[in-house]
Amino acid sequence: MTSTIGVAVIGGGMAGRAHAAGYRGATTVFGTDRPDVRLVAIADTNQAVADDTARRYGYERAEYDWRAIAEAPDIDAVSVVVANHLHREIVEGLLAAGKHVLCEKPLAGSLADAEAMVVAAENSDRVTAVGYTYRRSPAVEQIRRELAAGTIGELVHFNGHYWCDYALDPTSPITWRYRGGPGTGALADVGSHLIDLGEFVCGPITEVAGAAFATVIRERPVPVGVTYGHTKGAVSDELAPVENEDVATFTATFANGAVGTFSASRVAHNLPDGLAFELFASKGSAAWDLHRAAEFHLSADDVRTDIGGARRVLIGPDHPYISGGLPMDAGGVGHGVADLFVYQTRAFLDQIADCDFPRRFARPDGAMGPLPGFDAGLHGLRVVAAVAESARSGGTSIKVV
Ligand SMILES: NC(=O)c1ccc[n+]([C@@H]2O[C@H](COP(=O)([O-])OP(=O)(O)OC[C@H]3O[C@@H](n4cnc5c(N)ncnc54)[C@H](O)[C@@H]3O)[C@@H](O)[C@H]2O)c1
Repeated sequence: MTSTIGVAVIGGGMAGRAHAAGYRGATTVFGTDRPDVRLVAIADTNQAVADDTARRYGYERAEYDWRAIAEAPDIDAVSVVVANHLHREIVEGLLAAGKHVLCEKPLAGSLADAEAMVVAAENSDRVTAVGYTYRRSPAVEQIRRELAAGTIGELVHFNGHYWCDYALDPTSPITWRYRGGPGTGALADVGSHLIDLGEFVCGPITEVAGAAFATVIRERPVPVGVTYGHTKGAVSDELAPVENEDVATFTATFANGAVGTFSASRVAHNLPDGLAFELFASKGSAAWDLHRAAEFHLSADDVRTDIGGARRVLIGPDHPYISGGLPMDAGGVGHGVADLFVYQTRAFLDQIADCDFPRRFARPDGAMGPLPGFDAGLHGLRVVAAVAESARSGGTSIKVV
């Protein structure tokens, strides 16, 4: 083992590039008392994507089979950023080869796969984590802290949506996102982020009810070649059935008794990436919207009623992650989703440093805090499964086991 961390990304597509850029930026933020990072390889079965992503983000080489990453002695840590149903085989292979693994959300294409991955993680001494990127939003983390500290009283109601439009065009190709049965569509794809955000801020969901799914576009054209991201790829005249939902809505009960209302969509007109939530508590409220990622709204019983109301808080160095976390870490500068991937990969690398170099690099303060583990990914899929069961049974209440 060297005193550096060699990293690789498997899957150089849409989110794979965000991971590739994340590792590239990780050593530029926060303290410099960590091991050096080597950007070693991007692996993708699409050779053009592997070559392009490796070159674009400054990785030493491209590989065309994930096994080359598992077998490479110069790679210590790997992001798995391919279609959900491929996660298990690759993650198990990487852990068996002694790699640290950051796996994208949802953790797997099925509950059974996710359960097996948790067992594989438990049997390994490597760092394992799931990519719930929005946990690293400074505004979300600040709201979570305020709720936990009691600033706005006891939680009453969380309302969240993740509305996207990537599936609205019926001529865009059928891809892995449209296969897998009820619950694996908008709910698992974008709803998994929303469920995790709700639980990150408000605590665990114990029961769901009133679920309803809708599939608006029932057939899509088969691609003639490879596809990329949500919609890109040339198509043929042949149509194939869409197997999962375009829209999912449900209610939830949190362990603390508060109620949640959730909706996820991939057919929301003109909303490319619409993640937002409001929460109401006994002495205040808070709200955050990804479209204005570097601000949040908060209302508290701390001013006269005649000048009360929600106020806009602009994110700056007083908030989590900003001080030292941006090249220009001043107030009001703003940040985007790419920065959240930098924080996520930095947290992963910090965990690896503490694991592999305990005497040389361990820091007791754990500045970034650990990433959610595979157990969190499995739990998220259990909520998804409960919602799918509720939808299948006409909206019945289903406990999350
Ligand atoms: N955290 C986030 O914000 C976020 C955003 C988008 C996607 N995701 C997740 O990232 C994962 C990938 O999504 P995407 O939108 O980037 O998909 P994508 O289709 O754009 O890219 C996937 C890439 O994997 C490659 N690939 C397919 N099979 C492979 C294999 N066996 N080995 C290596 N490469 C292979 C494809 O050629 C493609 O380039 C999914 O799990 C998705 O849910 C997370």
